[in-house]
Amino acid sequence: MSVTPSRVAIFGAGYVGLVTGACLADLGHSVVIRDVLADRIEALKRGEIPIYEPGLAELIAANAERIAFTTDVREAIDGADFVYVAVGTPPTYSGDADLSAVWNVIDELPAIDRACVVVMKSTVPVGTGSKVRHRLDERGLVQVGYASNPEFTAEGTAVADFLRPDRIVVGAFREEDGDAVVALHAGIESPVVRCDVASAEMIKLAANAALMTRISFINEIANVCEATGADVVRVAEGIGLDRRIGPSFLRAGIGFGGSCFPKDSLALKQLAANSGYHFQLLNAVIEVNELQKRRVIGKLHRHLGSLRDRRVALLGLAFKPDTDDTREAPSIVLAGRLLAEGAEVRAWDPIVDGHDLYGVEIAASPAAAAAGADAVVIVTEWPELIDVDWASVGASMRTPVLIDGRNLLDPVLIRAAGFQYEGIGRAAGPPED
Ligand code: NAD
Ligand code: UGA
Repeated sequence: MSVTPSRVAIFGAGYVGLVTGACLADLGHSVVIRDVLADRIEALKRGEIPIYEPGLAELIAANAERIAFTTDVREAIDGADFVYVAVGTPPTYSGDADLSAVWNVIDELPAIDRACVVVMKSTVPVGTGSKVRHRLDERGLVQVGYASNPEFTAEGTAVADFLRPDRIVVGAFREEDGDAVVALHAGIESPVVRCDVASAEMIKLAANAALMTRISFINEIANVCEATGADVVRVAEGIGLDRRIGPSFLRAGIGFGGSCFPKDSLALKQLAANSGYHFQLLNAVIEVNELQKRRVIGKLHRHLGSLRDRRVALLGLAFKPDTDDTREAPSIVLAGRLLAEGAEVRAWDPIVDGHDLYGVEIAASPAAAAAGADAVVIVTEWPELIDVDWASVGASMRTPVLIDGRNLLDPVLIRAAGFQYEGIGRAAGPPED
């Protein structure tokens, strides 16, 4: 399908805004990305990409003539056919989504005298679209359309996820606004789900909740495996081959983190509660996840007794590999718990700087983090950890204990390298013959 180039203004130069802008430019559209952070915009103008997302820098460079960056609202909006909202929606104290950045964007919009559609990419509670519609109408912007087009990309694979999505969801109040948003994606092959705005908003929250439920489910199965001698890796393989279940999101570990799952679980929980519904299953998913992070501390206690003055190496700070994002990362909870128990914490990550982690010493390599330590914990499954010379790392430690929080390593090889190895949901010792 040939593309009719549009002018797209994107508010928010974060993970979603930059990926959306780069991908829409790659489809042939002309994009202006606006952020309130002057330093960020200046860096982007110099060609520096402020986040680590594989393939993003290359895509922005390849489409440089169709992408501009600005802090100026009018410059962004000038001639725009679409205004994308891709700002953060972090949790407030109550767990509700903080929509202040979304409202800032809507309230900053100048008078627009041409056909234009505001497209909500940020994850927002059900009902937000109706409120935005009302606010636009109040301001006399009745000709400005509104569509919800939630984002399903995952960090680390965001560019591929955007250009080859499982589906594109578009909810609109007016048919023609939805049609325009769908047409903007010409060139991407994907099923399209057209629906009302509230349903589009709920699809986003429900999709994340379904993925989190699978993770907490497999983590609980892992905990029962530990108590009964089964191996969760084989169990996940065995259940995942059932086509009705499928293999994705069945990796047991030390719980989900990131900028989205934790906040979106709270936002959906609060949305339900505010509407008078107690979302029991979601509450359990959240609680299981909190306990899962802390189970690592119990494992360390079993091997080392008191953790006071013990040195623990945390390998990986990002909430998952291929990102520099540490928002709600299990590493932060673990570091905090370990320091509170009186342990010394040394950490390594190939991308995250980590120097802002209070009380944690940052090491340049996994071996440097582990030298002299009483235990190593694999927090993030960075692939480079597979190739570490574990025998020499173990020899350099005070006690060679390895807690593999992501079931990354082969227990047989690691035990052969001299370690006391414990994964998540795997038999505690060598299998009995
Ligand atoms: P982010 O924090 O990385 O980026 C948000 C950006 O918006 C920041 O640079 C901030 O300075 C900017 N901003 C704030 N107010 C602004 C304004 N008035 N005008 C212009 N820019 C402004 O956030 P993110 O991770 O990109 O997430 C954005 C939204 O997308 C959230 O609602 C999130 O839940 C959702 N989402 C994120 C992902 C992801 O992978 N990170 C995936 C799907 C959905
Ligand atoms: C997630 C969703 O996968 C995206 O579809 C969604 O768009 C995004 O949230 C969002 O709304 O922002 P993301 O948080 O980037 O993407 O990363 P995931 O790959 O989903 O991982 C989230 C967390 O779950 C990580 O901490 C990861 O380690 C954990 N996880 C994931 C597991 O513990 N087990 C698994 O099997 C899968």
